[in-house]
Amino acid sequence: MEKITSLAKRRGFVFQSSEIYGGQNGAWDYGPMGVELKNRIAQAWWKEMTQLHDDIVGLDAAILMHPRTWEASGHVENFTDPLVDCKKCKSRFRADQIPEENLAAKKCPDCGGELTDTRKFNLMFKTHIGPAEDSASIIYLRPETAQGIYVNYKNIIQSNRMKIPFGIAQIGKAFRNEIVTKNFIFRTCEFEQMEMQFFVKPGTDEEWFGEWRKRRWAYYEKLGVKMDHLRWHQHGPGELAHYAKDAYDIEYLFPMGWRELEGVHNRSDYDLGRHTQYSGKDLQYIDQDNSAERYIPYIIETSAGLTRNLLMILCDAYDEEQVADKGNDDDWRTVLRFHPSLAPVTVAVLPLMKKDGLAELAQDIRKELKEDFATDYDQGGAIGRRYRRQDEAGTPFCVTIDYESKDNGSVTLRFRDSMEQVRVNRTELAARLRKEIREYKRTK
Ligand code: GAP
Repeated sequence: MEKITSLAKRRGFVFQSSEIYGGQNGAWDYGPMGVELKNRIAQAWWKEMTQLHDDIVGLDAAILMHPRTWEASGHVENFTDPLVDCKKCKSRFRADQIPEENLAAKKCPDCGGELTDTRKFNLMFKTHIGPAEDSASIIYLRPETAQGIYVNYKNIIQSNRMKIPFGIAQIGKAFRNEIVTKNFIFRTCEFEQMEMQFFVKPGTDEEWFGEWRKRRWAYYEKLGVKMDHLRWHQHGPGELAHYAKDAYDIEYLFPMGWRELEGVHNRSDYDLGRHTQYSGKDLQYIDQDNSAERYIPYIIETSAGLTRNLLMILCDAYDEEQVADKGNDDDWRTVLRFHPSLAPVTVAVLPLMKKDGLAELAQDIRKELKEDFATDYDQGGAIGRRYRRQDEAGTPFCVTIDYESKDNGSVTLRFRDSMEQVRVNRTELAARLRKEIREYKRTK
């Protein structure tokens, strides 16, 4: 993880928030490469969940919601972590994340000092809206995006004539006052979620739950993620969230071990039932073809962390490889093997020399590619070193412009993973790149 954190900073993926003031715990800033990667992961998810499904539409709900939302959702009452403090070293722990023997003996796992009793700690950030800081002005930063979908479900049925089964997808920020925020961007106080809520008829929920588990697994396979680094974990009775009838996590083998990447939950009719109760509004679905049929839909939720997905994609792509190019067999390269559709830069254009019109020609070719691809241009230093820089940033394709390019319009296309090079005519370059992206298969 240290190597990934350091590469992320060095290459402009992720910076510590407010670093010049010593940093802000639980918050991170996404640099020029990071924001591109994050946008592409979000685009891939959005395409998968909306464009490829006729029965799923999108939403972008506000972060600030009526405070009753969080009473109805159960978050005010139940969204808590068990917390213990060490009286001696002042370390703070989640009681469910320290060894049981330490908890039983009330002994700090760090210094052996005495631990406080376990107390419940609500994870929602609470603030005030308006000038008065009284109980009537309390408002929460949303701890999940899901509730914005539930409170809009009737609006969407009416405005978009949706019929059950159907889904609503949303990407957005969520906030949790996490006690433990180590492991880089894995668990943070400010993060982004990609959630989809699928509304189904009661009785069909278990079938849809199985279907969505299959679809979410296939999604990661399509992204080229190492499938032996993914596994399912079903929540036991003690682990189930207050809203869940059944829940499975997709776990990824991060450098610190297996950890949750995404949850697929059967939330039953809990959420819409509770919002009916708290809002006094009738949230039953009325079947258009048979108005006698009315029911509170069950909800199957797929809930992935966008920022956690970014960490997974970084870890999954990270590789160090001994390469024997130029006859030098102790040369090592660091390479990020991003799927080309996720890579922050798709194609880098490199003139072999700055002189003799090669730089101008390269700029010209870059301009042609810019309309369709995220490009970079680099003319500084030896060509081998420039390839390494692009490998480390995860750029899947480099295009090198040389003297032959001037003579016959051909360029060298170099592939990041295999380091193979082929000659391609400038006029065929964009089509070739599109084909390579579409047909990409990860081999290492
Ligand atoms: N709406 C259901 C829900 O929020 P969750 O299991 O609490 O379920 C879903 O969160 C996903 O959101 C997690 O699998 C994880 O990817 C991401 N996530 C949750 N808390 C996070 C945090 N503090 N920092 C980063 N990502 C987080």
